[in-house]
Amino acid sequence: NRIVPVIAIDGPTASGKGTVASRVADSLGWHFLDSGSIYRLVSLQALRSGVAFDDAERLVKIASRLDVTFDGEEVVLDGEDVKDKLRQEEVGNGASKLAAIPAVRSALLDRQKGFRKGPGLVADGRDMGSVVFSDSVLKIFLTASVEARAERRYKQLIDKGLSANLERLVLDLRERDERDTNRAVAPLKPSADAVLLDTTALTADQAVIFVLEHARERLIESRFVSNASD
Ligand code: CDP
Ligand code: CDP
Repeated sequence: NRIVPVIAIDGPTASGKGTVASRVADSLGWHFLDSGSIYRLVSLQALRSGVAFDDAERLVKIASRLDVTFDGEEVVLDGEDVKDKLRQEEVGNGASKLAAIPAVRSALLDRQKGFRKGPGLVADGRDMGSVVFSDSVLKIFLTASVEARAERRYKQLIDKGLSANLERLVLDLRERDERDTNRAVAPLKPSADAVLLDTTALTADQAVIFVLEHARERLIESRFVSNASD
């Protein structure tokens, strides 16, 4: 499995990881893993069954038993497409709480590694480059100011016809950053060999081009593809 190349794209909430990672995957014709959606699935299931976000034992059970299939755009949980439900802020906040529990993270490890299939995988999350795919051929760490990220989230929610409050989003993002950064396991932090990209003043297209250029270089260097001009 080690020879299947992985591009890891990590960063804080609403930094554009998902958008950039899925476009990079499309453009390379590679598989795509939105690892946050797996934490969100556990959160949704916990909310539905009334399990508290600090009940490690029951959360681990949910995590190990998730019956989910990723089918194109759809995320099918126990036969129901829950893609839109997963995006709710309540679900994201719960995910961030239960993601701080080491046993929950371990229970989700193999499921994430299973997405690594030829010709390659682009994975986004918090610890793709630092933990899950630490041998990634390219590790990108996206950042953007809290204000820029809150505006992006706001726009996404309004575009979906959901209600949103910008000030509230700024507070939620700060709280989430704080929790993701300061937890003891797999904290949100660029690994030493990650390439940092601040997207505050960039469009998603510009970020995609940046990642694709670095990917091309790294894939040639590591001989996954040959350089046509060699
Ligand atoms: O889209 P957004 O960045 O808001 O969140 P997400 O990527 O869907 O992840 C939701 C929560 O799951 C995050 O706040 C993280 O705490 C957690 N998560 C994680 O701990 N590790 C990952 N690889 C992905 C997500
Ligand atoms: O996955 P993550 O939470 O990091 O972010 P996302 O769900 O991809 O949301 C980012 C939103 O900001 C999307 O609506 C993008 O179109 C937009 N955006 C971006 O991703 N990158 C930029 N440089 C500018 C805007």
